[in-house]
Amino acid sequence: MDEMNIPASVAIIMDGNGRWAKKRGLPRSFGHKEGCKALEALIPEAGRIGIKYLTVYAFSTENWKRSQEEVSALMDLFRYYAGRLLKKAEENNVRITFIGDRTRFPEDIVASIEKLETKTSGNTGLRFVVAANYGGRDEIRRAAVRFAEAYAAGNIPEECISDGTGRFPEGELTEAGFASFLDTAGIPDPDLIIRTSGELRLSNFLTWQSAYSEIVITDRLWPDFNAEELLRCIEEYNGRNRRFGGV
Ligand code: FPP
Repeated sequence: MDEMNIPASVAIIMDGNGRWAKKRGLPRSFGHKEGCKALEALIPEAGRIGIKYLTVYAFSTENWKRSQEEVSALMDLFRYYAGRLLKKAEENNVRITFIGDRTRFPEDIVASIEKLETKTSGNTGLRFVVAANYGGRDEIRRAAVRFAEAYAAGNIPEECISDGTGRFPEGELTEAGFASFLDTAGIPDPDLIIRTSGELRLSNFLTWQSAYSEIVITDRLWPDFNAEELLRCIEEYNGRNRRFGGV
């Protein structure tokens, strides 16, 4: 581990909870419960390894299409884990941030998201980012709306425009300027995106931010993922040659 280059920003698509449960003849919600346990155990480990930003895909804008039973089991699981997560964050100096459109969640969940963010806002260790009711396209769409609103209000931050005046369309909106309207403003793009359970796609995760991310796919189902497997994925990442479009 000493010689390894640890990526500062890592994102994970936690896939395979359903398959994990099915293999054992259990309902899908059991898989999600085990998935939560795996995540809870990984948070302090990620900080210990030296990762600065860990982003996880907890619930996508498409996940509402699942059965009402499964959606409501996921909500209940969040209600239960929110308290545990807060404790974990406090013990490990972790700051929690949510990305995604939280307004579609029931009121008590929105309140609990806000509590997790506020209570941990002063923590200086690992930044743990939870994507909930998140979709990359939806995030870009909402960022465009925010930009239009800022424009209408005459409120575009100066640094977003190429000539530094904040005047648009006289000056050009820069990429970094647009990115500051995304949910991930202030969070570095992922160096490494890990997807569990063998699927080879990004599924609307960090669409803007993944432009130059390295992608590592593991066959492990999410409930079986742990720090050891995380280090193995980082080792694979270390074998890559990142060129960012150069040679
Ligand atoms: C994918 O497995 C997993 C999900 C849709 C939910 C994952 C969420 C958690 C593990 C934790 C929730 C987060 C917090 C912060 C408490 P799948 O159901 O798509 O599995 P399958 O592809 O095998 O069906």
